Amino acid sequence: MTKSKVRESRTKARIKAIIPFGIQKFLYHNIIKKIRLFKITLKGKITKEDIKKSLIKAGLKKDDAVIVHSSLSRIGYIDNGVNTLIDSFLEIIGKNGLLVMPSFSALNYDKKKRIYVFDVKRTPCYTGKVPETFRQRKGVQRSISPTHSLIAYGNKAKWFVSDHERCDNPYASKSPFYKLYHLDAKIFLIGVDQLANSSIHIVEDKYKKFPFKVWTKRNKVLVALENGSNKTIYARWHLSHLYKIRDNNMLEKPFLRESLMKIYPFFNTELRVIRVRDSTDCMERLAKRNITIYNSKLR
Ligand SMILES: CC(C)(COP(=O)(O)OP(=O)(O)OC[C@H]1O[C@@H](n2cnc3c(N)ncnc32)[C@H](O)[C@@H]1OP(=O)(O)O)[C@@H](O)C(=O)NCCC(=O)NCCS
Repeated sequence: MTKSKVRESRTKARIKAIIPFGIQKFLYHNIIKKIRLFKITLKGKITKEDIKKSLIKAGLKKDDAVIVHSSLSRIGYIDNGVNTLIDSFLEIIGKNGLLVMPSFSALNYDKKKRIYVFDVKRTPCYTGKVPETFRQRKGVQRSISPTHSLIAYGNKAKWFVSDHERCDNPYASKSPFYKLYHLDAKIFLIGVDQLANSSIHIVEDKYKKFPFKVWTKRNKVLVALENGSNKTIYARWHLSHLYKIRDNNMLEKPFLRESLMKIYPFFNTELRVIRVRDSTDCMERLAKRNITIYNSKLR
């Protein structure tokens, strides 16, 4: 397998590990951010037509259901930025298609009320500028989950986001994630790898004998709904220690070996394309052999 263009270099990760977070933040906002944007602009502008051509080449079609995870800065300088990328997807898939993005948010605990809180309209997402912009577009629907909310646009969007709050865990059988499985949605990973591919957790609910305990107990969450009213829900999320033992990118090998995933050049970066059903079924076969993203290092 050739070297991944989208993974953070080891040197960069080592430097980040020794510099305190506050200093990293200061350096990023005052120096790195500006240099990065300047470097991106040097390579020339990417237009909507350029993007649409590349998406079609990578197999995107009218009426597709697609979940997009992205790193905007890795692509190159896009004329009119985020909106050009979003419109490119929407214009290809059309109204009968479904454009989905993760609008995951950090847990927010209200110490006074002694309860977790989630505001459907206001809670921002940490999954990048593209989903954060998409989230605020007119007509985009957001599912109710304090950690794993999804946003969607298209004729099926309301149905798609419905009932997330009633699910036992974010990936349970009536969840929007599971609906991606039923729709056989495509996953487009733009400038990112399996670390960003949240659909890889569907198997943790779907395979009832999944060899790891991954979910917390049910927690009470106060949700501020879009209509201004409040509602109490119960939600689980991933156990916090899991990120230390997780190796999402161990999936790249089986996905490529079984020809389930294709990697396309995408301007300055790479675009990984795989279907939700193919990846979930592959992971279920692996889990039956006790191979998961949580114990790959033990093998
Ligand atoms: C974390 C992550 C979003 C960071 O990626 P990033 O490229 O640094 O940031 P964004 O995608 O938010 O893009 C913003 C950057 O694009 C760049 N940018 C600005 N205008 C641009 C333009 N017109 N064209 C291209 N890039 C532009 C800027 O550098 C900007 O950074 P700044 O806002 O700090 O100035 C990305 O690595 C990632 O993980 N994405 C997937 C997240 C996900 O789906 N997770 C789900 C499982 S947890």
